[in-house]
Amino acid sequence: MAFEVLIAPSVLPADFARLGEECTGLEKAGADRIHWDVMDGRFVPNLTFGPDVIASVRPLVSLPFEAHLMVEAPHELAHRYAAAGCDLLTVHVEACPHLHRTLGAVRELGMDAGVALNPATPASAVAHVLDLCQLVLVMTVNPGWGGQSYIAAMESKVAEVRAMIDEGGHDVKVEVDGGIGPVTITAAARAGAEVFVAGSAVFSDNLGFDHAITELRRAATGH
Ligand code: DX5
Ligand code: ZN
Repeated sequence: MAFEVLIAPSVLPADFARLGEECTGLEKAGADRIHWDVMDGRFVPNLTFGPDVIASVRPLVSLPFEAHLMVEAPHELAHRYAAAGCDLLTVHVEACPHLHRTLGAVRELGMDAGVALNPATPASAVAHVLDLCQLVLVMTVNPGWGGQSYIAAMESKVAEVRAMIDEGGHDVKVEVDGGIGPVTITAAARAGAEVFVAGSAVFSDNLGFDHAITELRRAATGH
């Protein structure tokens, strides 16, 4: 494995009445990041975390917070997620007519910048912004809900993005998000992904977060 494996649990399936405890539990269980699935009810039908919710958990957890903005106007909201304590902000290329400018604005707010690609969006959509971002998120489901099935056809896009990054000598991580579990993570890692978002696979493991995260890391690294 040429790069380290990072496990970023999505808290979309968490018990929102105990969100702080769930996040501290994920940290104790060895998660590398917390993945916040932000949905505005317009870019995707679901509605989830505002910045105040994230800010309320920020003091409890030392892990990096990555906000995945599945919203129509991420450039209008970015500053609020920076103020809430997010370390990385991922915007969807499909929601950004001025992606180059938006990524620069995210960086000016002091956050790392990520670009997400929906399943139908080609890798070429990020060809001219790899010098402006630190992460490319290849969606392996159609965004909006947890618990969906992994789209294996996205592995070729993961490999394509990985090749673009390596050929350009960029320091950009490739993340996958959606339907990632102990079986699907192996193929996604082999295709070139290194950051893995998992919601259901972490929260539905009867043996707990520690077991789920350990299993995911083992399946991604092969040992
Ligand atoms: C979907 C979200 C994903 C999802 C992952 O719109 O971006 O992060 O919550 O959930 P699982 O791992 O259950 O597919
Ligand atoms: Zn996500």
